[in-house]
Amino acid sequence: MSKNLFIKTYGCQMNVYDSARMADVLAPLGFTPVDAPDDADMVILNTCHIREKASEKVFSELGRLRRIKESRRAGGTDMILAVAGCVAQAEGALIVERAPYVDVVLGPQTYHRLPEMIARVARSQGAEGNRLLETDFPPEPKFDHLPQPAASGVSVFLTVQEGCDKFCTFCVVPYTRGAEYSRPAAAILEEARRLAETGAREITLLGQTVNAYRGEGRDGPWGLGRLIRALAGIEGIERIRYTTSHPRDVDDDLIAAHRDLPQLMPLLHLPVQSGSDRILAAMNRGHTADDYRRLVVRLRKARPALALSSDFIVGFPGETEEDFAATMNLVHETGFVQAYSFKYSPRPGTPAAADPDQVPEEIKSRRLAALQDLLTAQQRAFNEACVGRELPVLIEGRGRFPGQMAGRSPYLQPVTVRMDEDAVGRILNLRILEARPNSLSGEGTDSAGPEYGTCGCGGSCRSAEGGQG
Ligand code: SAH
Ligand code: SF4
Ligand code: F3S
Repeated sequence: MSKNLFIKTYGCQMNVYDSARMADVLAPLGFTPVDAPDDADMVILNTCHIREKASEKVFSELGRLRRIKESRRAGGTDMILAVAGCVAQAEGALIVERAPYVDVVLGPQTYHRLPEMIARVARSQGAEGNRLLETDFPPEPKFDHLPQPAASGVSVFLTVQEGCDKFCTFCVVPYTRGAEYSRPAAAILEEARRLAETGAREITLLGQTVNAYRGEGRDGPWGLGRLIRALAGIEGIERIRYTTSHPRDVDDDLIAAHRDLPQLMPLLHLPVQSGSDRILAAMNRGHTADDYRRLVVRLRKARPALALSSDFIVGFPGETEEDFAATMNLVHETGFVQAYSFKYSPRPGTPAAADPDQVPEEIKSRRLAALQDLLTAQQRAFNEACVGRELPVLIEGRGRFPGQMAGRSPYLQPVTVRMDEDAVGRILNLRILEARPNSLSGEGTDSAGPEYGTCGCGGSCRSAEGGQG
C-alpha cells in the first residue's frame, strides 16, 4: 500500500541531500513523497542548528504538526512524526521532553536505520513515553547502507565528505555532524556515473569542509583535486562544483584542477568570515586575512575567470569598529559576486557563546546592514557587467512564464530565455540582454563556443564592485 511521506528541509545543501536519501531509504517501504503534511502518513523535519533562528523554527513547526496528527488520529488514521538533522542531534533529549508526540528523533548519521525505527514505532502503537532517540554516531558509515539515489535532476548534489574537525569557536557543526569522514573514491565515482546515466549534467560535491576530502583511492588516499579529475572523465558530467571549502585546505592540486578542468565551474565559495586577524584568531579559523588574500591571488592566477563567493559573520564577541572596518576592507579589495552574511548568534556549548564580551544587537544590525549594502552593490555590478556577453547556460527547467526556459550560468546566476522548445539538460550559449539584482535574461546565439573563459565581467569581479548579502 502506498503511503505519503512529507519531508521539510531546513539548513544547508547537505540537509537537502540527506532528505533525498531518506526518501530513497523509505521508498521500498511504500512511501511516496508529497508536497504537504496534511495527508501524510509520515512527516520528517530535517532540521538545522546553525543559528538560533533556525532551531527555533523547529518547535513552532512541531506545534502545527501536532494538530494535524491529532486530527488524523480522530479520523482513524495516524501520522509518524520524526525530527532529523542537526537540532535532533544537539537537542534530542529536549525534543523528546518538550514534544512527546514526536515518535522518532534521529541524528544525521543514523538515517540509514529509518526502516528499523519505523518498525519499532509500529510495534509500540504510538504509545507516548516510547519515543525513539537515535543520536549515537554509529560505527558503520551510513553511506554503506544507503540505496543508490533514485530519480535525479539536471543539477544534483553528491556528499563526498561529512563532519568537521576544525572547531571554529562559533560553530555547532563539529558537534552535530561529528568527526570528518571521507567516502571512498570508488563509491563516489559509482554514484556519479549513476547520476549521469539518469540525466545529471551538473554535480555539486558536498562536505562541511569538502576540500578536507581525503578518501581511499585505487593507489592510496585521494585529495579533492584528484577526485574532481576523475569525475571530470565521466561521460555526461559537464559541470562540477564543490562546497563548502575552507581556506586552510586549498592545496596545490586543487588549484591545478581549477587551472586544468573546464568542467570545474569558475565560481568558488570560500568563506572568510572576517577580515580582522584578531577576530579570525578568536574564531580559530587558522589563517589570517593576508593568507586569504594570497590564496585568492593564486586561484585567480590559475583561473583568471574565477569569481568568488563567501560567508561573513558580524558582531563576533569582541569585534570592534576597527575589526569591522578590516572586514569591509577585505570585501572592497577582493570583490565577491555573491555572499551570505550573518549576525553572530551564540550557540549553546560553543566557546564563543561563553565570551563575556558579546556585541550589542543594535551594533550587529548596523554592521550587517553596511556589509550587505557593499556585497549587494558588488553582486549587482557583476550582474550588470554580464550584459552584452555570451554565457553558457545549463537549462534546468521551464521558467515562470509560458514559452520561457530557465537555467544557470557558470556563476550560478539564474538566467531565463524565451523559447518554446524543451531544452532541459542542454547547455545553451546565450547573449545576456538584461540584468536584474538576482538574475539575468538572455537570448539564443548561433555561436558554439563556451566563451566564458574570460567571464565577461570586464574585470569587475576583481575590483571594488561584484556580491550580495
Ligand atoms: N563549513 C563551512 C560553514 C558551515 S556553516 C565553513 O567552514 O565555512 C555556514 C555559515 O554559517 C558559516 O560560514 C558562517 O558564516 C555561518 N555561521 C556558522 N555559525 C554561526 C553562528 N554561530 N552565528 C552566525 N553565523 C554562523
Ligand atoms: Fe563550522 Fe568551522 Fe567546521 Fe565550517 S570549518 S563547519 S565553520 S567548525
Ligand atoms: Fe545546519 Fe547542520 Fe547544515 S547545523 S547548516 S543543517 S550541517
